[in-house]
Amino acid sequence: MSVLSEKNILLGVTGSIAAYKAADLASKLTQADAHVDVILTRAAEHFIPPITFQSLTGRKASTDTDLWGGEAHILHVGLGHAADLLLIAPCTANTLAKLAHGQANDLLSITALAAQCPLMVAPAMDVGMYEHPATQENVRILRERGVYFAGPAEGRMASGLTGYGRMLEPAELLGHVRLVLGKSGKLAGKKIVVTAGGTQEAIDPVRFITNRSSGKQGYALAQATLDAGAEVTLISTPTALTAPIGTKVVSAYSAQEMLQAVLAESAGADALIMAAAVADFRPADVAGSKLKKRDGIPQIMLEAAPDVLKAVANLGSGANRPRVVVGFAAESRDLLANAAEKLSSKKLDFIVANDISATDSGFDVEENRVTLLFADGKEEKLSLRSKLAVAEIIVEKIIDLLET
Ligand code: CTP
Repeated sequence: MSVLSEKNILLGVTGSIAAYKAADLASKLTQADAHVDVILTRAAEHFIPPITFQSLTGRKASTDTDLWGGEAHILHVGLGHAADLLLIAPCTANTLAKLAHGQANDLLSITALAAQCPLMVAPAMDVGMYEHPATQENVRILRERGVYFAGPAEGRMASGLTGYGRMLEPAELLGHVRLVLGKSGKLAGKKIVVTAGGTQEAIDPVRFITNRSSGKQGYALAQATLDAGAEVTLISTPTALTAPIGTKVVSAYSAQEMLQAVLAESAGADALIMAAAVADFRPADVAGSKLKKRDGIPQIMLEAAPDVLKAVANLGSGANRPRVVVGFAAESRDLLANAAEKLSSKKLDFIVANDISATDSGFDVEENRVTLLFADGKEEKLSLRSKLAVAEIIVEKIIDLLET
């Protein structure tokens, strides 16, 4: 179950050219199983018709015409009370002003005043309008009142000017929505460290040894822990992925940097999830300048890279060791026996055993088929599912362990 499933999102769309992006946002929210009710202002209708939203959400989109319709006396109250979140995206300078001063002269502003749920706004306006002292004062008032601001971003605007005022992209807004909805989850107040990606061990300034890890499972874990309300630090090697909105990202390249980052970030953390594929071997000597072909084929001597989980295990049960430590085992043969050995030698609470010889699961694909082995001898085999679904189950197990 995603943090968005079955959630009632009230999406207010106001009169900005960014209104066309709200259609994509409504679609993304609906695809994530949220119920999306849309209210368009009169100005928004100039940019995009209600039918677009109705087609994407499968629900009636409301306009000011409905304010004077048969159910007018209850519509705004009903929509506002049923919502888990009121998101106004795009939110114009005019709507910001109305919200700040409690004006209620159209369906959206009346609903906003009547709503009991959290309010998130995604401002979209020209840079001069955003920077105007009147708008800045309205932003301050709303922030003080607890309104959540998603953006605006800096960038090029429809006017051709560059500056603050551009609405965040729908994918980013989705991340902010997840963050707000997840806040009261079972990991609220807990600090979780997640590692992701394959480390890079330098040979010379331009070459390195790495592995096939894409980081997808680690990033899915960062999202799932955020969805459960945790404060999440994602220690990541360079990947092609975008970190989930709300994570604190720490970059690490080599096993040594991963070790330092994990030890620093784990102090005081409740759980550590080591999804990163950390190198076991690294070049013993790193050439200071680029190795040249004319000097012949280099013989690269390898040495052991630090074992991050062993170092965490060596912390004993002191305050610096997270209460729950989870490892991964990437195996191409004897999956369960090898994973069980790592579970005990690395003193883990549980290990996620991953058969990397299968082509439909493991490295660089969207799905994973894993078996969870627990320190108390229990075993749980999970069928093939998305990496986010695997992550959500791992997070459930961590919640159980933290609650015991
Ligand atoms: N790991 C680690 N430090 C390393 C290597 C691995 O902390 N230098 C962690 C991984 O993040 C993973 C777990 O240990 O959570 C198991 O990693 P894996 O590569 O499967 O095992 P190895 O310890 O490298 O053992 P082997 O080489 O025998 O497979």
